[in-house]
Parts: sequence; structure tokens; C-alpha cells
Amino acid sequence: MKVTVVGAGAVGASCAEYIAIKDFASEVVILDIKEGFAEGKAMDLMQTASLNGFDTKIVGSTNDYSKTAGSDVCVITSGIPRKPGMTREELIGINAGIVKMVSASLIEHSPETIIIVVSNPMDTMTYLVHKTTSIPKNRIIGMGGALDSARFKYRLAEAVGCPISDIDGMVIGGHSDKGMVPLTAKATRNGVPVSEFLSPERLEKVAADTKVGGATLTGLLGTSAWYAPGAAVSELVKAIALDSKKMFPSSTLLDGEYGLSDLCIGVPVILGKNGIEEVVTISLTDAEKAKMQESAEGVKKTNGLLEL
Ligand code: 2OP
Repeated sequence: MKVTVVGAGAVGASCAEYIAIKDFASEVVILDIKEGFAEGKAMDLMQTASLNGFDTKIVGSTNDYSKTAGSDVCVITSGIPRKPGMTREELIGINAGIVKMVSASLIEHSPETIIIVVSNPMDTMTYLVHKTTSIPKNRIIGMGGALDSARFKYRLAEAVGCPISDIDGMVIGGHSDKGMVPLTAKATRNGVPVSEFLSPERLEKVAADTKVGGATLTGLLGTSAWYAPGAAVSELVKAIALDSKKMFPSSTLLDGEYGLSDLCIGVPVILGKNGIEEVVTISLTDAEKAKMQESAEGVKKTNGLLEL
């Protein structure tokens, strides 16, 4: 499998590194506009191959999209990251133009590619790719829920006081500080509802901390996080590469599912060789349904800022 990662910044480089270490791809191309930057990151990563035991070939390209030709999956991380105090939505002015140009350039050289959008505001950037390309909707995936769910599991394990591997949980909705919907009623510890270990108040705190997980890290780091975003993307790419039919919350274009249409928002999807194999409709409590509606209104408001 050939994978292209556009953006050799922290998220893109982490994504490339995790893909290489998981060793399911034959080639990863990292592309950036900054002269020599992607080539340097690729070379540095290749010098870890003997240490980390992978055979994936990583190459860098300074804005030469011909090197991305024939990519099975293209990950778009390019654009500016948040600064402390910023919302993801504030990035739209700059990032929309970048994502539009990048997706067109990728598709020109890889017309059959699956595109995974990471650039923020991610749900709106994913919608932008739908609106400005002719790629079928199963081949356009927005990565947010996989990351938010990982943060949810981290916070749940912290609250319960157990290994994260004992926890399962999912976050759906918009990838935004206010729009995420952590499914606290469905989260489990080894199959047991976490409500048997945590009070309603503590569960609410877990949900609240999850929703601002990105902003919390931006405050600590001075910029957006990169390890968990990169790792989350690598899992989506792996599911496609292995045709694993795993279920991930991902941003996808809805056409009536969950009572929502004409927007991209995080819902459970099955990922395989065709990208989004299926949108999964799960039962939601009335409270969860209301939160999804509210989240969708927020995403549509941001979509309205696009100059399509
Ligand atoms: C995050 O939540 C970058 O949106 C990404 O960290």
C-alpha cells in the first residue's frame, strides 16, 4: 500500500512514523511546501528503520505531487494548527484554501485514492473536500472521533483507576470543543458499564474533560497536539490497508442517517479497503440525540463560512 501524508509538521510526521512502525504500508510519501523539510523528516524517520524494525519506505517531497502518484490513501494534515485560546473553527480562513488546493493536487495524481482529512476545522474541511472534488463519499473520511475516543478512554481509565486497555468508549458528533458527544452511557470497563464505577457527576467531568482534550493540550504545548492525532490517523489507514472492517467514529457525509443531512460529522463507520464500507446507525438516548442535533447545528454554522 502507498500512503501520502501532506504536511510534514508534527501531526503529519507522527502519522508517518506510526504508519511505518506498524509496517503495513510499502511506501509513505511525506509532502510539504517548506524546502527540504519533508525530505529531512523522511530521512530522519528512515534512520529509525533498523531500530524500530520496519521495512516501510518513507520518502519526502517538497511540493512535488508527482511523487504521490498512485497513492491508495492520502492524509491531509496541512494547514495552521491552533494557538492557545483559539477554537478549531478560527482556522477556517487559511486552512480552507490549503485543503482545497491540496485535495485537488492529490486527486490529479491518484484519482482512486481514499482521502483522510485531519486539518481543522476538520468536519468542515471534510465537507469542503466533498463539495470541491468528485470523489465518492465512501472515499472521504474525516479523522476526529478516533482521536476524541482515545482521549475519552484515557479520562475514563484515569477516573476509574484502571488500565486503559480495560476501557472501551466512543465519542461521536463534531470534532469541536462544544460539539463532541462522549457516549458515557455506553462506555464500559471489561464489558461492565462504567456507571457502576463512577458517579453521574464524575462521568460528566470525564465527558467535559474529553471535549476540551485538544484545547487542554494546546494550552500546555503552545500548539496543537500531535502524538495522539498521528496515532489515530495511523489506525484508520491500517484498517483500510488490512480491510479490517473495524468500526471507528469518523466524520462522513450524512444523507439522512441520525436525522442529519448535507454535513460531515462523526458517526460510527466501518472502515475497509473501500474506505467507508458502511455508516452504522446505533441507538442513542434522547439526551444523546439532542446533543447530536446541537452538534450538527454547530458544524453547519461553520460550514456556512465556506466560500464554495
Ligand atoms: C486535536 O484535537 C489537532 O484537532 C486535533 O488535537
